[in-house]
Amino acid sequence: MWLMRQAGRYLPEYNATRKKAGSFLDLCKNPELACEVTLQPIERFNLDAAILFSDILTIPDALGLELYFVEGEGPKFRKEIKSESDIEAIPLIDVTEKLDYVAAAVKTIRQSLNTDIPLIGFSGSPWTLACYSLSGGSSRDDFLRARKWLYSRPEMFKLLLDKLTIIVCDYCEMQISSGANVIMLFDSWGGLLPGHNLSDFSLKYLRRIIRHLKTAHDIKIITFVKGAGQHLNLIADLNCDAIGIDWMTSLRSAKDEIGHRCALQGNLDPAVLLGTQTHIEAEVKKLFSLFGNRAKGIGHIFNLGHGISQFTPPDNVSHLVEMVKKYSQQDS
Ligand code: CP3
Repeated sequence: MWLMRQAGRYLPEYNATRKKAGSFLDLCKNPELACEVTLQPIERFNLDAAILFSDILTIPDALGLELYFVEGEGPKFRKEIKSESDIEAIPLIDVTEKLDYVAAAVKTIRQSLNTDIPLIGFSGSPWTLACYSLSGGSSRDDFLRARKWLYSRPEMFKLLLDKLTIIVCDYCEMQISSGANVIMLFDSWGGLLPGHNLSDFSLKYLRRIIRHLKTAHDIKIITFVKGAGQHLNLIADLNCDAIGIDWMTSLRSAKDEIGHRCALQGNLDPAVLLGTQTHIEAEVKKLFSLFGNRAKGIGHIFNLGHGISQFTPPDNVSHLVEMVKKYSQQDS
């Protein structure tokens, strides 16, 4: 069991370290402090895995787009991709040079973390990184600027996806060789694509990355395509080890769809953690009953269906962990 965004603003100790760092991005770029916040939820709760503290947007930042965050508005870029020549000019960077701080954070965390606890490294998917990169940052209109590129200059879009795929492969390899034990690929916006384009503009590139990483390394890979609950059959063919399920998708139908092809990760609604402890217990029980008996089936990594809310009371997380340990033991 672990939680997406387990190190974040709902934890007072995270806010204190972030203040010490300066900004969110300064925190990502400081290996000692990134290590400190990665370990905070592990120290506070009885979680089974740590996830590297960083962000998927370190890649577009390293490509020269200059990432920054505006309070309450999410990520933005100072530089925009406006023309085809801007895409042609995107460099195939050397990640060990431009993103050396990520390798340093992974090494520092791996050295400080108990050896029993796996460290999850991660990257955004090419499609999701392209969405942010072509829209100037986060979006209020489902990345319409990026999706306009898709339907006006698909060849240029694919050139961008090709470049991002090479960089994501290098980036994950760097994390693996620095000590990451698992890689999670976040396709947070795959659900914006109509089914017939999901394969051509996202899954095709994820498949390439998974094939590349699995050829070179003995590594477990978790793929999370948010909003794609109706396409789990396609996602299960990517040859990853676990599939992240968002909270809108029924765990039971996900299990039926995926069969024995891979394990499932998820999928408690993050809003449950804003409710009462009685409801948290009831929802955990429900979730395990939907998943069914683990012993007879595939593996289950308990998680939320998306990132934890900043308004979550930490005591509710302690209660959640207790309930998951209680009911998952009954189940096995
Ligand atoms: O899960 C973890 O604990 C690891 C840390 C992690 C962060 N971002 C820290 C973070 C991970 C795995 C990510 C991935 C990420 N970043 C994704 C994919 C997962 C998802 O949520 O779908 C995406 C889309 C991003 C881009 C991003 N970074 C957004 C949209 C935001 C703003 C969100 C917000 O709540 O304002 C961020 C900032 C961010 N990344 C925060 C954290 C803890 C909040 C920053 C802060 O301290 O203010």
